[in-house]
Amino acid sequence: MTLETKNKRVFLLGGPGGVGKTTLAASLGVQFAKAGYKTVVLTVDPARRLAQALGLKTFSFDLQPVPLEGQNEPKLFASMLDTQRYFDKLISRFALSDEQRDRVLNHRFYRIMVDHLGGTHEYAAMERLLEFAEGSEFEKIIVDTPPSQNAADLLSAPQRLAAFMDNSVLKWFQGQKPVFALFRHGTKAALKLLEKIFGSEFLQSLGEVLTDFDGMQAGFRKRHLQVIELLKSSSTSFLLVTYPSEARFLETREFLSTIKSQGISLSGIILNRIEAPAPKEVSAANLSQDDAARISAILGYYSAMHAQQAIWVAEFEKTMRDLPIFKIERRNTQVHDLSALADLTPFQVDLKDDTPHSSS
Ligand SMILES: Nc1ncnc2c1ncn2[C@@H]1O[C@H](COP(=O)(O)OP(=O)(O)O)[C@@H](O)[C@H]1O
Ligand SMILES: [Mg+2]
Repeated sequence: MTLETKNKRVFLLGGPGGVGKTTLAASLGVQFAKAGYKTVVLTVDPARRLAQALGLKTFSFDLQPVPLEGQNEPKLFASMLDTQRYFDKLISRFALSDEQRDRVLNHRFYRIMVDHLGGTHEYAAMERLLEFAEGSEFEKIIVDTPPSQNAADLLSAPQRLAAFMDNSVLKWFQGQKPVFALFRHGTKAALKLLEKIFGSEFLQSLGEVLTDFDGMQAGFRKRHLQVIELLKSSSTSFLLVTYPSEARFLETREFLSTIKSQGISLSGIILNRIEAPAPKEVSAANLSQDDAARISAILGYYSAMHAQQAIWVAEFEKTMRDLPIFKIERRNTQVHDLSALADLTPFQVDLKDDTPHSSS
């Protein structure tokens, strides 16, 4: 199966942590830039080597041109998300007055909250995506997403934040019925920890910040609706990156039904890091019996892993057969440099029609 890429502008890669979202986002970016499109990769947590390959410096979220071989004028740009700095910008935008803005930004709990509250990183990624989508500078926008525990966190983040800042939460802080159902485990744990560190006075202060947030919720809600619209748009391709295992399969099934209820559909599933079949045996001269036994144990391990994965690949393909499913083998070498990245995208990317041959 293939993926229609020509009429798509936004490519959003979601999925659980560690499956390869960041690497694949970079890979797609390289592919589209090579196909002639002016492309931005909005990345979140690139491994150090990948950041180097993309020319990204930590804590800089300025756009960084990434020179590709044969391109005089850069087509590929990378931008790294800095949640703290991004939230500062958001607060400035949503605040109803300069005083309210300064009060929130200077509150000693504000920074801690941005770091620990469940959903802030996801929210910032979505916000930045909207910024690029509303602008006209880029023809392709690739969005890597933060390492959520669960792929669905990404979509519910703006809503959760709006809910957090809601009056109902404030009421809770004033001793009303707990509304902790609104919070996810991560948030609960973070609040507990913060309370432990700062004492019970913490809740009081948090209440003050929330009062300051009051009135900004409308802005957050509106953005949430815009994100949902963007995800529903026919020019957006929403790809789930995951791994062929039972846990990931069950999680994906649940995720599909969650987003379906929101009217959002996936464009495809990428199963990454699939083991190639291991050879049955390795013959080499002069192998000691011990070494032969060790090699045989390792081969057995890989065969078992391959067989397990094959079961779950088949299950994905059977259960989700109306979706294109792409498979990527686990590479034995690092996948950080630009040429290895170009090699990873599991589907063909359409060339831009008017690509002048001289410039590429
Ligand atoms: N197909 C693959 N083969 C080998 N290594 C891979 C592959 N895909 C990703 N990796 C490696 O796996 C690690 C995690 O990938 P990353 O893209 O950071 O995941 P995520 O963004 O989903 O947390 C990185 O070290 C990356 O180089
Ligand atoms: Mg990542």
